[in-house]
Amino acid sequence: MNSIVNKKKSKNDSIDNFALFGNPVNHSMSPNIYKNFSKEQGIPLKYKLINVCENNLIKEMELFFSLKNSKGANITVPFKETVVHICNSLTDRAKVSNSVNVIKKLSNGTLLGDNTDGVGLIHDLKTKKFIDKKSNILILGAGGAALGIISVLLEIGSTVFIWNRTIEKAKVLEKRFKHLGDVFYLNFFNKKIHEKKFNLIINATSCSMKNQIPDFPKYLISSNTYCYDLFYSRKNTVFTKFCKKNGAIHCSDGKGMLVSQAAFAFFLWYNKFPNISSSMDSVF
Ligand code: ATR
Repeated sequence: MNSIVNKKKSKNDSIDNFALFGNPVNHSMSPNIYKNFSKEQGIPLKYKLINVCENNLIKEMELFFSLKNSKGANITVPFKETVVHICNSLTDRAKVSNSVNVIKKLSNGTLLGDNTDGVGLIHDLKTKKFIDKKSNILILGAGGAALGIISVLLEIGSTVFIWNRTIEKAKVLEKRFKHLGDVFYLNFFNKKIHEKKFNLIINATSCSMKNQIPDFPKYLISSNTYCYDLFYSRKNTVFTKFCKKNGAIHCSDGKGMLVSQAAFAFFLWYNKFPNISSSMDSVF
């Protein structure tokens, strides 16, 4: 009896531990996604959700990473930018977006911050054939979510337009990413908004979380416009419903991006790339 308990204990002791830090985290699909990757790749791991607030984020992260088996973590809203300053080193992707959604504990115990949101989004958009090499993309929103995706969209040759309720924030992002490609802020008074045909509209606002639609000219949506919501829910989001109602045919929420960014995070941890489409089928 004792030896069975000990065997179980020593097996558990050697299992890699991961966690998601954020607020809120209880709705997260990440445990299911990583459970699937773990099964598919034959790598046992434990994944837990840690709800934190600004005041105890550092303490909770230090506590988690002080454990020998804690190998990595994911970071979600609203801490992706804060964690940039907690990591010991950053990948280029994390530096450019100035936000971290995944951490790997390196063999010397230091924390490497990465950002897989952008590559996860591109992977999903390509899989769905929502972009080609020269897409004109309208991003709604200029908060953390927009920040994480602009550089990768520019890198693949897209022209990016940013529309935001607070114009000043869109201007700041234009300035910040101008050196990487064609990026422009837009508002009602800018004639580009009336002249342009956008191939893809991405909702990077937090409106869907509140069941709201950002205020933007709905005549920009047509049957040829792909519409993508970074937010996801079990059913259609309010944004994808709104776009369909206004003539869009191809709409998607962010489930594919969620699983893809997790696959790139898993790759950072284990150098092995899980099967995204089979995980999509099992998780959702
Ligand atoms: P973050 O911390 O990432 O900035 P946020 O404050 O929830 O998150 O806002 C994310 C984005 O959603 C912002 O671009 C925000 O617009 P503002 O910059 O004007 O605040 C946008 N957003 C949130 N609620 C909105 C609403 N009701 N209508 C339009 N945009 C909204």
